[in-house]
Amino acid sequence: MKQLESHFETLIGGQLPLNLYEPVHYVLTQGGKRIRPYLVMQANELFGGNPKTVLYPAAAFEMLHNFTLIHDDIMDNAPLRRGKPTVYKKWNSSIAILAGDALATMAFQELLKTPCSSETLIEMCRLFARTSVEICEGQQYDLDFETADSVSKEAYLDMIRLKTAVMLAGCLKAGALHASAAAADCNRIYDFGINLGMAFQLQDDILDVYGDKALFGKVCGGDIRDNKKTYLYIVALEKADEAQRAKLQHYFGSTDFDFQEKYNAVKAIFDALEIKKETEQVMQSYVDKAIAQLVLIHSDSPAKETLHNLTLKLCNRNQ
Ligand code: IPE
Ligand code: IPE
Ligand code: MG
Ligand code: MG
Ligand code: MG
Repeated sequence: MKQLESHFETLIGGQLPLNLYEPVHYVLTQGGKRIRPYLVMQANELFGGNPKTVLYPAAAFEMLHNFTLIHDDIMDNAPLRRGKPTVYKKWNSSIAILAGDALATMAFQELLKTPCSSETLIEMCRLFARTSVEICEGQQYDLDFETADSVSKEAYLDMIRLKTAVMLAGCLKAGALHASAAAADCNRIYDFGINLGMAFQLQDDILDVYGDKALFGKVCGGDIRDNKKTYLYIVALEKADEAQRAKLQHYFGSTDFDFQEKYNAVKAIFDALEIKKETEQVMQSYVDKAIAQLVLIHSDSPAKETLHNLTLKLCNRNQ
């Protein structure tokens, strides 16, 4: 991981125009949990791959992730990320759009630097491209749902599979491909990643309501403000009595409310209906599925236990 940080420190060095490269440098060097490159590296280790050359796909996936965050923050009107102003707030939306575009393409360039066989490189590029497009699909559903009257649990779960889980799964599969793992193992680690990713986004949605801004590094309540149809909202609507349902629909019918008033009212209904607990149970079911898949993978590497522990840790996080 240290190698990755120094790689990002030196990747951008004074290129012009400054208003393009400064924001790219800003996001790449502000940390974050670095889960995605960690997953690439752990999957590579799990299947005995070269620990040096895996740096390129690891960096590429983290760069792709950071690109999605820059654009996501414009879409979600989010002022804060990793405890710092978001790119479109610090600069402006036009700069954030371009910085994101550049970063997405630079991510591809990074992946292409991987010294491996052309077959492996093509497979990784194919996976990378597919993952990128699926994230766009998920992000579009997420936006469409803001103004949709009703969203089913199934539709929500498919949306988070696309916007979040395919990225975590893609990272793991990229690590496995880099290590020349057998096709069956590549698919199994991918499925593990999908379940891990589902749990990860459910926890993110919980933290958006119940997190501590100082730890989470993002402003809480943004999903409620933007009428995001998260699992919490969908279950609340399902469990609500008539008065609660009317209130939820009233507040989720517009974005013009006073933020604090809306947040307090919606959170009070979530609390009364014990929505957090119910969402945590669903999250746990994905954790269980993920671990069941991990167990099936044949490997003596300590990376297997690392991935097991990471799965448990990610779903108990407050960051
Ligand atoms: C944020 O991802 C986007 C989601 C899919 C919820 P992370 O929570 O992994 O963000 P960083 O990279 O650690 O900041
Ligand atoms: C983000 O989902 C998914 C992607 C960035 C692709 P969110 O919108 O919930 O992520 P945060 O909470 O802003 O990090
Ligand atoms: Mg979003
Ligand atoms: Mg967001
Ligand atoms: Mg979120």
